[in-house]
Amino acid sequence: MPATASSVPSSPRFKIQALACGSMAVAAAGSLHAGARVLGDRGAASLRGIVRVPGDKSISHRALLFGAIAIGETAIEGLLPAEDPLSTAACLRAMGVGVSPIVAGQTVRVEGVGLDGLQEPESVLDCGNSGTTMRLMLGLLAGRVGRHFVLDGDRSLRRRPMRRVGQPLALMGASIRGRCAGNLAPLAIEGQDLHGAVIGTPIASAQVKSAILLAALTARGNTTVIEPARSRDHSERMLQAFGADLAIGGDSGRHVTVHPGAQLHGRPVVVPGDISSAAFWLVAAAITPGAEITLENVGLNPTRTGILDVLEQMGASIERFNLREVAGEPVGDLRARHGPLRPFTIAGDLIPRLVDEIPVLAVAACCAEGISRVGDAAELRIKETDRLAVMARQLLAMGARLEETPDGLTIEGGQGLRGAEVDSESDHRVAMSLAVAAQIAVGSTLLQGSEAAAVSYPGFWDDLARLQA
Ligand code: S3P
Repeated sequence: MPATASSVPSSPRFKIQALACGSMAVAAAGSLHAGARVLGDRGAASLRGIVRVPGDKSISHRALLFGAIAIGETAIEGLLPAEDPLSTAACLRAMGVGVSPIVAGQTVRVEGVGLDGLQEPESVLDCGNSGTTMRLMLGLLAGRVGRHFVLDGDRSLRRRPMRRVGQPLALMGASIRGRCAGNLAPLAIEGQDLHGAVIGTPIASAQVKSAILLAALTARGNTTVIEPARSRDHSERMLQAFGADLAIGGDSGRHVTVHPGAQLHGRPVVVPGDISSAAFWLVAAAITPGAEITLENVGLNPTRTGILDVLEQMGASIERFNLREVAGEPVGDLRARHGPLRPFTIAGDLIPRLVDEIPVLAVAACCAEGISRVGDAAELRIKETDRLAVMARQLLAMGARLEETPDGLTIEGGQGLRGAEVDSESDHRVAMSLAVAAQIAVGSTLLQGSEAAAVSYPGFWDDLARLQA
């Protein structure tokens, strides 16, 4: 049976195994600071209206990176103007790539330097909080022969495991050094002449897969990546659109082969809205009495729509309409309404299709009558924070009945939540998930660290205020 708050110890119960020589420090809910925000004190404000969520973060990174190594201009419409893509753009500029200013609503232009045109930067490349920037950069830079690069990041990124990328790249001849036997940033890359390889990855990770695909573009001979389950396929789609020679096979596309030698050509990219940002509004609408939210222009790539499958399994009212294809990605509009929810069980191959949505699904589970279970999700422990531990800690503070397991959560819903002092612990997706929880909690919630939302959704708080108005 799920534990109550009193039976859950205050220290993390499950170690993060990937970081054998480092540990993910856990910030305790602390004193009031600049990002503190009071939520849910507006009476029974419902949520109604239309939202255009900002551009997809994964696709935004890739448009910048692939544009940089193409020949000619890549014009990007709808690029996410948030901290993570800004980190990618800054790293590329430091290596001689022309990237126009990233301003909301404006087309971003990337002047490509070709597959091997990146210059050695004068200083350390700062990846900020962005795991995607660091991991994809490793693949992009490993084969730049004779050039030296150092990648670094913020406190959170310095604790995230990088050997998962360094190890497969080493099989191709890469030289990557770092703290903890190459696992932790800062990381130093000495560009090498790479050779193709057949690489089976132990985890379904689009960051790992994409790093290998990028390195493979200029390796000698073919490279095949084989994943245990298919991760998001934005890299495959966009690389093919830029002219790369890729073959996708295996059951459900788990095998991707790069035939090197093809030149990439700059092209227009249209970035759809991020389904991972839309997820907060889908759950908020489903759990808030009287709510109805329409989300326009949301990316509906099937490798990302696990959240819709689960909400539908829960009995949530979600309509998909205006379905279309834009620049090689499926896109549509969504409408979500409040209604009763059933509990869910998620595990296995579904996890990579909703890995970033598990924090907000934990909030949905608190509102479903019965016991929901998340399993096979140990990857969440090595995201921007240990998201299983952080969500468990924060939801328990709001009166949830739940238990943390080594690879997931067990949540007994239907108990109601109460307003409390909670903390994003500097994790963007935790901040927004707790805002959704505060929406239905009895009494007001004080959220510390709300500014973290800007990592992926700078307009989140404005959109929330508009929907409540
Ligand atoms: C991403 C892949 C996922 C996801 C992250 C973005 C990407 O990470 O959690 O937010 O853009 O490739 P993993 O590859 O570690 O699963």
